[in-house]
Amino acid sequence: MQKPCLLSCFLFLFFFLVPQLSFSCPPDQRQSLLEFKNLLTQTIKNHSTTAITLEGLKTWRPNSDCCKWQLVRCNTRSLQVIELNLNSLVPSGSVSSSLLRPVLRISSLATLDVSSNFIQGEIPGDGFVNLTRLVSLDMSRNSFNGSIPPQLFSLKTLERLDLSMNAIGGTLSGEIKELKNLHELILAENIIEGEIPPEIGSLTELRKLSLKNNKFSGPIPLSLSKLTKLEAIDLQNNSISFEIPDGIGSLVNLSTLSLSRNNLSGGIPSSVQKLTNLKTLELENNHGLSGKIPTWLFSLEKLKILRLGGNKLQWNKNGSVSPLSKLTHLSLRSCGLEGTIPDWLKNQTSLLFLELSMNRLEGSFPKWLADLKIGTIIMSDNRLSGSLPPSLFQTFNLSVLSLSRNNFSGQIPDTIGGLSAVMVLMLSENNFSGPVPKTITNAYRLLLLDLSKNKLSGEFPRFSPSSLLAVLDISSNEFSGDVPASFGLFTIMLSMSQNNFTGEFPQDFKSFPFLIHLDLHDNRISGSIPSGLSPSLEVLSLRNNSIKGSIPEDISNLTSLKVLDLSDNELDGSLPSSLGNLTGMMVSPTSNSSAFSFMLNFGIEIHDLAVNWKNSKQGLANRNLYLYTLLDLSKNKLRGDLPASLGNLRSLKLLNLSYNDISGLIPQSFGGLEKIEVLDLSHNNLAGEIPKTLSNLSELNTLGLSNNKLTGPIPESSQLDRLNDPNIYANNSKLCGMQIQVPCYNATQREPPEEEEEEEALFSWKAAVIGCPCGFLMAVVIMYVVGYFSRPPPPRRSLKNREGFKKMKASSP
Ligand SMILES: *[C@@H]1O[C@H](CO)[C@@H](O)[C@H](O)[C@H]1NC(C)=O
Ligand SMILES: *[C@@H]1O[C@H](CO)[C@@H](O)[C@H](O)[C@H]1NC(C)=O
Ligand SMILES: *[C@@H]1O[C@H](CO)[C@@H](O)[C@H](O)[C@H]1NC(C)=O
Ligand SMILES: *[C@@H]1O[C@H](CO)[C@@H](O)[C@H](O)[C@H]1NC(C)=O
Ligand SMILES: *[C@@H]1O[C@H](CO)[C@@H](O)[C@H](O)[C@H]1NC(C)=O
Ligand SMILES: *[C@@H]1O[C@H](CO)[C@@H](O)[C@H](O)[C@H]1NC(C)=O
Ligand SMILES: *[C@@H]1O[C@H](CO)[C@@H](O)[C@H](O)[C@H]1NC(C)=O
Ligand SMILES: *[C@@H]1O[C@H](CO)[C@@H](O)[C@H](O)[C@H]1NC(C)=O
Ligand SMILES: *[C@@H]1O[C@H](CO)[C@@H](O)[C@H](O)[C@H]1NC(C)=O
Ligand SMILES: *[C@@H]1O[C@H](CO)[C@@H](O)[C@H](O)[C@H]1NC(C)=O
Ligand SMILES: *[C@@H]1O[C@H](CO)[C@@H](O)[C@H](O)[C@H]1NC(C)=O
Ligand SMILES: *[C@@H]1O[C@H](CO)[C@@H](O)[C@H](O)[C@H]1NC(C)=O
Repeated sequence: MQKPCLLSCFLFLFFFLVPQLSFSCPPDQRQSLLEFKNLLTQTIKNHSTTAITLEGLKTWRPNSDCCKWQLVRCNTRSLQVIELNLNSLVPSGSVSSSLLRPVLRISSLATLDVSSNFIQGEIPGDGFVNLTRLVSLDMSRNSFNGSIPPQLFSLKTLERLDLSMNAIGGTLSGEIKELKNLHELILAENIIEGEIPPEIGSLTELRKLSLKNNKFSGPIPLSLSKLTKLEAIDLQNNSISFEIPDGIGSLVNLSTLSLSRNNLSGGIPSSVQKLTNLKTLELENNHGLSGKIPTWLFSLEKLKILRLGGNKLQWNKNGSVSPLSKLTHLSLRSCGLEGTIPDWLKNQTSLLFLELSMNRLEGSFPKWLADLKIGTIIMSDNRLSGSLPPSLFQTFNLSVLSLSRNNFSGQIPDTIGGLSAVMVLMLSENNFSGPVPKTITNAYRLLLLDLSKNKLSGEFPRFSPSSLLAVLDISSNEFSGDVPASFGLFTIMLSMSQNNFTGEFPQDFKSFPFLIHLDLHDNRISGSIPSGLSPSLEVLSLRNNSIKGSIPEDISNLTSLKVLDLSDNELDGSLPSSLGNLTGMMVSPTSNSSAFSFMLNFGIEIHDLAVNWKNSKQGLANRNLYLYTLLDLSKNKLRGDLPASLGNLRSLKLLNLSYNDISGLIPQSFGGLEKIEVLDLSHNNLAGEIPKTLSNLSELNTLGLSNNKLTGPIPESSQLDRLNDPNIYANNSKLCGMQIQVPCYNATQREPPEEEEEEEALFSWKAAVIGCPCGFLMAVVIMYVVGYFSRPPPPRRSLKNREGFKKMKASSP
């Protein structure tokens, strides 16, 4: 009986004494960690003025056991560091990737997490060669760039690799096949391009594959169907082409298949039926996906999220659906749905999100649908009619409702005030009539209200100063009474044009410090323009009202103003020379400077702003308003001289002062209006010669000088020579020039003008900006709004998303 005794003695020694003998982590590992801490502290100190203590590294002190430090975990036997959780250490700024080098010397590491640390630069690939025991590597949410270093592919023990949300480029190499133990491969939100290597089929342990928001192209590799352990495939927002491989049906454990926003074609393979574990199927916005929407999709019992909108997929009119799934999200946007709202939705009692926009649905809004208590309902661009069931508004759930561009009619129910959760409410372009119930002001979460283009009448309700309403469009209705001026402090946009509002221009508009857009054109508003409007104003349109008095001298305090349209009023007095100090009209437009980015950020877009452009009414798409700089003071009773300072407004595209009583000379300085395309000074009392400097206006294509008292030669330039319609110059005193075929006594002959280039320059601007098909935009917008509200973006990516959104919209027709 000696052997067992010996053995237990030995075990006792091993487990209880040995650790106490060498109670500290290896000194070289401690040293490496301290070095890392030092480097990090140095860098942060160098970058910031205020002292930032790295709270998490407080316990990292020399001469202590690094196994007892926070964020560090050691193997209990070998006492070597095996886990480092260094995520979210750096509060802001940026640190260099070389910072990681000391850490990478710890070859015993199994888990390394350095996510969310503002690390920039390339991944120090050579540092990884000794990490032969690494199982999990998380470097996500940093600013790593360059490509994926090949050394990573030799980490044979790796089970989880997360490099998402960086700026990693290059391609994904076939060497990835070396990582045979990989369970999760997450490369989302980088800029990796090229094809998905077929070698990915060797990663037989893979359960999760996310390559979303990259630039992968080419086909989905057939080899993917060998990865039968896959549970999630997220390839959305790439440029992946060709058909969805039929082999996808062999991935029996697949619960998420996200292929939205690619270039896929063909139909939904019938093998998808075999994916009985499928919970999420997202195929939106693949313009090439076509064919019938198979009704068996609704027999996938576990399916919760189904997004098929924005394809060429067509609803199977003959197929009957009796869903076995209980969906939470359903998008069938532009899927050719016809007839009434399908009543198989009746037992989809878990729906949170329903999008049926851009179909040919008709009939009324069914009461049973209202009673489903859905959070987001988007059914714009259909042919739905009748009145809205009052119960639609008696719900705590509804946060987004868009029914724009249908044929709904009747009154907006009183119950609308019950919408305690509603944030976005869009009912524009219907036939709603009658007053807007006062109770609407009880919907205290309301951010955006679009009721434009209906037949609503009566006075518009007063919102309280604590209201959150930021964007309001009630244009093109029949509202009357005093101009509403009672809104919340956070009001950004008020579009109330084309109504029957009366009363004086309210002083209250001064109390909205964030107001960017104020459009009141085509009403019957009187009074005068007050001083002290918000300096954040970018657009002010009061066209076609009865505004009197003069333009206030301190209008130049509105330094962001880019569109000022006061035409067709009764303004008198002289043009203040401070107009020439409107800095917003001097700087060249930049997409980001515009405070409109707020709205773009929220994906909010309201109807085009109507202005007079080249003698016809044009809608300027709000998303592009930052490109415009317009000053229209035409059809007033303005007197006096033209201030020379107007020539400072370098980025002005339109200057219309026609139909006033302006006298004196055209200032030489007008030659400085280098971006001007439309210059209309007609129907005034201007005298003297046309300044020669106007020949500098190389983008000018619409000119009005008629009905003045101008004399002398019309200046010549390749641009001006082309403006030879006699109406431009009619009814002046003694103008001469080749444009009107009146020879000047001492005019010198010029060479014929060159044609093409200027014309093109004009065209590109015009085509890009004017007359966007509103419906499509709105749909895009709503998707975005909804996307925003249903899944909040991770905080650090918001900028990137916003740019993407702009890009997406810029590419729309
Ligand atoms: C911080 O600044 C000091 C002196 O300016 C410099 O010597 C040191 O290398 C810098 N450290 C880092 C990590 O940038
Ligand atoms: C890897 O280990 C070898 C041998 O111990 C050593 O010479 C080399 O410097 C290590 N490389 C890195 C990057 O730590
Ligand atoms: C990566 O970023 C660093 C620092 O921002 C920069 O100096 C370097 O040129 C970038 N490398 C690549 C390949 O873009
Ligand atoms: C698509 O990916 C790009 C990066 O490639 C990103 O900027 C954009 O925001 C993404 N779009 C969406 C809708 O997620
Ligand atoms: C699917 O998942 C189940 C449960 O997690 C597992 O038992 C089964 O082995 C998996 N199937 C495959 C092919 O990996
Ligand atoms: C989309 O896919 C088609 C083939 O289906 C291909 O011809 C086309 O080039 C692809 N477009 C893009 C932008 O990748
Ligand atoms: C639908 O069914 C009708 C008769 O039941 C048939 O005539 C028609 O061709 C079918 N349409 C489609 C698209 O299958
Ligand atoms: C929905 O109703 C259909 C019959 O219309 C029925 O076959 C199906 O089981 C129901 N589904 C759910 C999820 O209740
Ligand atoms: C505007 O209101 C006046 C009376 O205040 C009324 O006579 C007129 O018809 C209204 N116009 C419209 C377009 O509703
Ligand atoms: C306009 O700006 C000037 C100086 O920038 C300031 O003194 C004046 O009070 C401002 N006017 C109004 C009405 O805010
Ligand atoms: C315009 O601005 C300049 C410089 O800021 C200032 O000197 C001038 O008085 C201003 N002119 C008017 C008319 O406000
Ligand atoms: C001809 O030119 C002279 C000087 O160049 C000028 O004074 C005169 O007014 C011009 N005559 C006409 C008719 O333009």
